[in-house]
Amino acid sequence: MEIIISDTYEEMSKAAARAVARLLNSKPNAVLGLPTGSTPVGVYKELARMHKNEGLDFSRVTTFNMDEYVGLPKDHSQSYHYFMQENLFKHINIPPQNIYIPSGTTDNADAFCAWYEQRIEECGGIDMQLAGVGSDGHIAFNEPTSSLGSRTRIKTLARSTIEDNARFFEKVEDVPIYGITMGVGTILDARKILFLANGANKADAVAKAIEGPVTSMITASALQLHPDVTAYLDREAASKLEMREYYEWIQAKKLGNN
Ligand code: GLP
Repeated sequence: MEIIISDTYEEMSKAAARAVARLLNSKPNAVLGLPTGSTPVGVYKELARMHKNEGLDFSRVTTFNMDEYVGLPKDHSQSYHYFMQENLFKHINIPPQNIYIPSGTTDNADAFCAWYEQRIEECGGIDMQLAGVGSDGHIAFNEPTSSLGSRTRIKTLARSTIEDNARFFEKVEDVPIYGITMGVGTILDARKILFLANGANKADAVAKAIEGPVTSMITASALQLHPDVTAYLDREAASKLEMREYYEWIQAKKLGNN
């Protein structure tokens, strides 16, 4: 795993956005896997800026979101559909028919999940998957003990995730209890993964995911099994990494950086 530690959230977001832009410039019809949450907001802002000021083109891009709350309609202000529209899609030129987000209101979840997996395959697979991490080490909504081979399905959210995400709702009781989410196996099928984390409350999860054992107790640790992951961290999120100095040394000595 390549680890890039930035001084600030803004710098971290710009570095990750540049990686997305490099892909789109070399493959204009790329398939992106996208996360929600507060972490990727800066990346989306920068991509929107690059679209507006530098002509970064999304007209042939396809996107698959990682997850959605079960029970929230698309226009609910806390649905991931709404989040994506507000934070990215309405600011870029992606055709609406190229956008895929798990449905939180399907009445046949099994069929929907199988179709979602099939659509990813039919579109040629995900070229670049962006992912954040929950404070319990989850990736997408793959809570602790999710199979590392899991595919898209419904998961019951951990109490800690419900509490973490309660800040976006009026009260904790309003947070949905289930999520419909890509599996860890779905995520690992992406050709490249950008792992994003910022803030001190992610430092433990980041250290366990990057340096701990691969375990379904920290589903983000499965990223260690993937051959092409770059982690974009701010200083606070990187603060508990034991090998931090080594990662910084590698960055400083990287060919092309001198
Ligand atoms: C949710 C999402 C995850 C996200 C996590 C962290 O549980 N399902 O995909 O990575 O929250 O969110 P935040 O970036 O807001 O800390």
